[in-house]
Amino acid sequence: MNTPSTVLITGGTGTTGSRIATLLRGQTTLRIATRKPSSGEHVRFDWANPATHGPALTGVGRIYLVAPVGVADPAPLVRPFLAAAVRAGVRRVVLLSSSAIDEGAPGLGALHRMVRTALPEWAVLRPSWFMQNFLGEHPVAAGIRTSGEIVTATGEGRVAFVDAADIAAVAARALLDPTPHNAAHVITGPEALSYADAAAVITESSGRRVRHRSVSTAELTTRLIAAGIPAEFAAILAGLDADIQRGADERVTSTVQSVTGRRPRSFAEFARVLAPP
Ligand SMILES: NC(=O)c1ccc[n+]([C@@H]2O[C@H](COP(=O)([O-])OP(=O)(O)OC[C@H]3O[C@@H](n4cnc5c(N)ncnc54)[C@H](OP(=O)(O)O)[C@@H]3O)[C@@H](O)[C@H]2O)c1
Repeated sequence: MNTPSTVLITGGTGTTGSRIATLLRGQTTLRIATRKPSSGEHVRFDWANPATHGPALTGVGRIYLVAPVGVADPAPLVRPFLAAAVRAGVRRVVLLSSSAIDEGAPGLGALHRMVRTALPEWAVLRPSWFMQNFLGEHPVAAGIRTSGEIVTATGEGRVAFVDAADIAAVAARALLDPTPHNAAHVITGPEALSYADAAAVITESSGRRVRHRSVSTAELTTRLIAAGIPAEFAAILAGLDADIQRGADERVTSTVQSVTGRRPRSFAEFARVLAPP
């Protein structure tokens, strides 16, 4: 296989982007976009500063696209970036979206059509909710840490949680495969679990009791705003929980197996690596 041209990984220091960089390193030339470059592989890139976009795109052939995070309507920032990418000779874009967001939906949904019409080679990744939300700074993880409680507005709705490593594996194929995927991939873990199920798995593997409490979407919105999330985005996030409650995210797909040739990691396998309290 020919070595593909330079791959620009936006969100390259984040949950999926950093894992994609690890998978691609050595197979192609990488350029990792970050607001705080600290190595030769890094390039300064800030969605809010268009002056950083052109230099980041020079010599790039393929892009992993993580839209500005926490921005309710990213289209006005992403549209000119894609136009500049086309002018710079980029042929392929792999967009990170979400299984919860259909093409044309407000926010990220507006970007699906944009990427598949702007460039000849594309893929839209639509992962389910990340298992990594149970780690780090995410409100789910923070709740477990501080009170042993996961607070959502999902009721008994189930989610086919997916490991970010499996998303990265699909992304790596979509970026490197000689034949462009030109498809939207709904990426899930192997089973759908409610947050109460997930809490039970964590309790079992950590030995510390973790429980789930479901609240109204209005209460969740208030809690997210109190945690520092902008009001408009907090309302969107709470609305996604309401979708989960309605069963919108319980679908399980075979994408990880069919694209990467191996099965996705289960939540129980993931929970084994969660640090004990
Ligand atoms: N969490 C979930 O369950 C879930 C499920 C489905 C879809 N998603 C989608 O996943 C996306 C987030 O991806 P992720 O989890 O891989 O990333 P992440 O861990 O949230 O990291 C965010 C990345 O964006 C970069 N970034 C933040 N602000 C930026 C700015 N102004 N300009 C340029 N870069 C900026 C950060 O880089 P620096 O700080 O280094 O600049 C960092 O690499 C969101 O669009 C979300 O909708 C999430």
